[in-house]
Amino acid sequence: MTLPTMMQAVVYKGPGQKSLESVPVPAIQRPTDAIVRITRTTICGTDLHILQGHVPAVESGRILGHEGVGVVEQVGEGVSNFKPGDRVLISCITSCGKCEYCKRQMYSHCEDGGWILGHLIDGTQAQYVRIPHADNSLYHIPEGLDEEALVMLSDILPTGFEIGVLYGAVKPGDVVVIVGAGPIGIAALLTAQFYSPARVVMVDLDDGRLEMAKTFGATEVINGGREDAAKRILESTKDGVDVAIEAVGVPATFDLCQRIVRPGGRIAVIGVHGKSVDFRLQELWIRNITLTTGLVNTNTTPMLLKTVQSGKLRPEQLVTHRFTFAQFMQAYEVFANAASEKALKVIISND
Ligand SMILES: NC(=O)c1ccc[n+]([C@@H]2O[C@H](COP(=O)([O-])OP(=O)(O)OC[C@H]3O[C@@H](n4cnc5c(N)ncnc54)[C@H](O)[C@@H]3O)[C@@H](O)[C@H]2O)c1
Ligand SMILES: [Zn+2]
Ligand SMILES: [Zn+2]
Repeated sequence: MTLPTMMQAVVYKGPGQKSLESVPVPAIQRPTDAIVRITRTTICGTDLHILQGHVPAVESGRILGHEGVGVVEQVGEGVSNFKPGDRVLISCITSCGKCEYCKRQMYSHCEDGGWILGHLIDGTQAQYVRIPHADNSLYHIPEGLDEEALVMLSDILPTGFEIGVLYGAVKPGDVVVIVGAGPIGIAALLTAQFYSPARVVMVDLDDGRLEMAKTFGATEVINGGREDAAKRILESTKDGVDVAIEAVGVPATFDLCQRIVRPGGRIAVIGVHGKSVDFRLQELWIRNITLTTGLVNTNTTPMLLKTVQSGKLRPEQLVTHRFTFAQFMQAYEVFANAASEKALKVIISND
């Protein structure tokens, strides 16, 4: 199939600057590449971090975005699982499928991939994107599934599930606290419920997000700006919580997690931390706790796809705003002011 020569894309122009502009359509560079026409994409908190200049590896001129769904337009001769016309989900993590880390399903550390889209190579906030190692980095979309729901499977659902719920080892009857009710914390909330915890308490500073958390299944919510969250949680448990999931990325929220974890409990850190934290080892050495960290591997994407297909998981509930491709800058404006706009995830369509 022949492609147009030019397309619209969101281009990073250095800290604080981006623009929606006309750029060349990508071409196959290696036999394992595919070119995908994007139909739905979104904006991640990480894109805002990049725009603030916090991710220096991103060079000026880079097309942003690492989430989306679309249609395969071209494949290299080394691609065997996909053909033009296939509808696909794009993983935020690129994986070769062959290196030592890929063999261990630690795709985030793939020696020829990992998180590269919209970071080290051009991303998905464009009408077309080049996907390296397409056989391992794309997923077929089952017939009849809602594309908006599937955009949530590129990054946020696997992140909340793998790094929060699975690393936190949530079990039936557990008391779980999730600190941060952004898209990632909500993704952890939705997927924690696979395991029937007794209580899931959400902590945030934004009442709007806490209200949304209640509709997604939180049994209790605490506004940590108005209340001493640690005190209230400790008063309502015998000796702390089974699992504390940190989904913000600042020292204060890590500290809350280490103050509320019970002996034998787990702290699962999802947040991207820019500063070192104080680790209360003098209190925790005796408590037999487990602390985990991690970058999403997206190795659970096939399983999450099945839960969406069966209706068990309904991630389209996270979508609060919708825009056309021409309105991309407006979508950024809304997402960057999430609290006042009551935004969780925004969808940008390219039909
Ligand atoms: N580990 C990974 O692979 C991975 C992948 C994607 C995102 N992340 C990280 O996960 C974190 C959450 O992502 P998101 O998109 O949901 O972010 P977000 O900014 O949309 O949400 C963060 C939430 O934390 C709340 N908050 C801020 N300070 C707080 C405090 N002191 N106490 C309680 N709540 C507070 C905010 O009100 C907001 O609702 C970020 O750090 C992000 O970079 C990690
Ligand atoms: Zn992301
Ligand atoms: Zn690999």
